[in-house]
Amino acid sequence: MKDIKINEIIDYLRYMDALGFSDLPLPVPETLCNDEFCLIREVALKHLIEEIGDCKRCRLAKERTTIVFGEGNADASLMFIGEAPGADEDKQGRPFVGKAGQLLTNLIVKMGLRREDVYIANTVKCRPPENRKPSPDEITACNPFLRKQIEIIKPRVIMTLGDVATRTLLGEVGSITRVRGKVFELDDIAVVPTFHPSYLLRNASKKWDTWRDAQLVLKILEDEKKKHRDSN
Ligand code: URA
Repeated sequence: MKDIKINEIIDYLRYMDALGFSDLPLPVPETLCNDEFCLIREVALKHLIEEIGDCKRCRLAKERTTIVFGEGNADASLMFIGEAPGADEDKQGRPFVGKAGQLLTNLIVKMGLRREDVYIANTVKCRPPENRKPSPDEITACNPFLRKQIEIIKPRVIMTLGDVATRTLLGEVGSITRVRGKVFELDDIAVVPTFHPSYLLRNASKKWDTWRDAQLVLKILEDEKKKHRDSN
């Protein structure tokens, strides 16, 4: 596959539009792309990866093995945001692939979705040593990239996983125990905080709360779909 500049795609679309084409036969995988903007989103995410480059914007660069950018469907309606990569993620360069990741994957499947349907990212893209929490300056250094990811993907709903992700997106709204299962808004996106999967591994009974939060998310997504259908 050849890299294409976004400006080139835009010029090409304008050119085809001027020629009178309303549809284009693009080789877009149907399972991943539901609309013509999906390909543009994937390209934009690729550009963002390039912009991050071999990042040295904070001290986490020193001990990381891999930058864990995030993964999933560029066209996802649902995005999960966790705290920071752990050891497994650092090794594999993918978010949520360790034990906590398995729990998150189970939740996604229980919601009737696949990991490939959603987008998964973290507040910071590099592993904090000893799995400590990312510090405020590390979060600040990485935040513009998370914000751009959100802007590109434009999900309908974001589930923030745990205190760190919730605070990063929403500010000081309160502890996760108080705010989980509530609906907040960020740039027209519904944000539903829930417990972090690592916390659920230690507190299995709280899984029911997270399941309730996930059902709320599914209801928001369903209502959105219905609204969209009714308006067309
Ligand atoms: N915990 C996180 O917050 N993110 C990961 O990617 C893995 C574990």
